[in-house]
Amino acid sequence: MLSFLVLSFLSAYAVRAVVIDTEGLPDTGLDTSTWTAGTLPPLEDLWDANDFQIAAKNVLKPKYYASYRTGALNEYTYQANLGIYSKVRLNGFSFRDVSNPQTSVSILGHNFTQPFFIAPAANAGHANKSAEASLARAAGRAGILYVPSISSTLSIEQIAAAGFENQTMFHQEYIWSNTSQVSDELARMEAAGFKAIFLTVDNSGINGVRVRSMRYTDESDTGHSTSFSLSALAGFRNLTTLPVVPKGIKTWQDALTCLELGFPAIYVSNHGGRVVDGAPTAVEVLMDIRKNAPQVFERMEVYADGGVRTGADALILLALGARAVGLGRPAMFANIWGDAGVDKLISLFAAELQTTMQLMGVQNVNQLNTSYVNTGNIVPLS
Ligand SMILES: Cc1cc2nc3c(=O)[nH]c(=O)nc-3n(C[C@H](O)[C@H](O)[C@H](O)COP(=O)(O)O)c2cc1C
Ligand SMILES: *[C@@H]1O[C@H](CO)[C@@H](O)[C@H](O)[C@H]1NC(C)=O
Ligand SMILES: *[C@@H]1O[C@H](CO)[C@@H](O)[C@H](O)[C@H]1NC(C)=O
Ligand SMILES: *[C@@H]1O[C@H](CO)[C@@H](O)[C@H](O)[C@H]1NC(C)=O
Ligand SMILES: *[C@@H]1O[C@H](CO)[C@@H](O)[C@H](O)[C@H]1NC(C)=O
Ligand SMILES: *[C@@H]1O[C@H](CO)[C@@H](O)[C@H](O)[C@H]1NC(C)=O
Ligand SMILES: *[C@@H]1O[C@H](CO)[C@@H](O)[C@H](O)[C@H]1NC(C)=O
Repeated sequence: MLSFLVLSFLSAYAVRAVVIDTEGLPDTGLDTSTWTAGTLPPLEDLWDANDFQIAAKNVLKPKYYASYRTGALNEYTYQANLGIYSKVRLNGFSFRDVSNPQTSVSILGHNFTQPFFIAPAANAGHANKSAEASLARAAGRAGILYVPSISSTLSIEQIAAAGFENQTMFHQEYIWSNTSQVSDELARMEAAGFKAIFLTVDNSGINGVRVRSMRYTDESDTGHSTSFSLSALAGFRNLTTLPVVPKGIKTWQDALTCLELGFPAIYVSNHGGRVVDGAPTAVEVLMDIRKNAPQVFERMEVYADGGVRTGADALILLALGARAVGLGRPAMFANIWGDAGVDKLISLFAAELQTTMQLMGVQNVNQLNTSYVNTGNIVPLS
């Protein structure tokens, strides 16, 4: 009888013990053997952004995990985003006082405690019913920027209401082919108190062909305009008094065009590898802008994202000229716990950034420049 019980227990355990394909993410010793498939593991088990991805993979319905995780086509750019940081070497300097590390930055004149922010990502409600509200609250508690997507689960007004009185948020917008939708939404964002617009310019008309998620859902009909020319861009700027930041800049030529058109900032991004498979990483694009149009960094703010998973990754983009760095998937994955998960992700990430700064002899993020990075292993784009 006893051996029967032991055997039943063992076989039940064998069925339930979780083996998760970690997709080649860095092995930092995460042990999932005590986890149960389909349920949230203890938050104490999680120590970095990659752990949150594995936990989300354990919990989310496969179609929702695929919708967050997917890149376009072969996912070469998705993988390149993750891998590029391993090619950069960090130069740390000793003999410096790092007793009072400073991470705060201003973004378009608004002060934030950290030079990283939660990037716009659609459908936060697939992770947790609190959806974008928990992302807004966690950002507000930490004093960091959150920029909700226009394709959010909650409305513009609901997200604004979820934030705190002392909180500044920006909002992302798409170029809908329905122009009255664009003007209506911009007016609502302004009325709801958002302070700037991130205008996504990298997927006119269509999304990338996101094979991994198309196996479950076809999202290729976007409603985005295919005729978004320079004159359409000028018309867009006339629809709002808020500062507009083009998101999805991938070439130095477009960066320079935005400077010449008087934009206050640009956002270098390949959309997390979800649009053009083969697009360069933010590291490569920032290097290319510095080579061909260095005045961009002097005369406008530059934000960047793609594959940032540790504070050291963020530091690389900051040293290459970004003023602030976006986190896309990590925040979506952390949101499977709602507020508690996003709070924890932000505090782990802030600790990683601060520690790396101190170990490199950096007292203030605003000191970071190209002397802190060696990019000799990276082939320049031009
Ligand atoms: C699930 C998901 C949804 C996204 N939705 C949007 C969106 O609605 N608008 C947008 O401008 N970017 C969107 N992005 C791109 C992010 O803003 C960001 O550029 C990208 O996720 C950064 O790469 P990372 O996920 O490796 O951090 C989305 C990304 C993901 C993963
Ligand atoms: C932002 O920070 C700067 C520098 O620390 C400070 O001078 C300024 O007053 C702050 N602005 C706001 C609105 O708090
Ligand atoms: C803003 O208010 C929230 C909620 O009261 C608080 O947790 C947070 O620390 C405040 N942020 C700043 C930057 O003061
Ligand atoms: C265009 O957008 C407006 C405002 O949001 C909406 O009322 C209208 O139904 C939309 N038109 C179409 C054809 O979808
Ligand atoms: C934008 O507004 C300005 C000032 O009202 C006007 O001169 C210009 O023609 C407008 N541009 C477009 C493209 O609508
Ligand atoms: C979803 O988020 C809410 C709000 O933070 C939280 O109370 C809840 O526990 C989360 N759901 C799960 C399953 O963790
Ligand atoms: C970069 O920062 C270092 C250390 O703060 C400084 O000595 C150097 O002059 C800076 N280099 C450039 C190119 O600004």
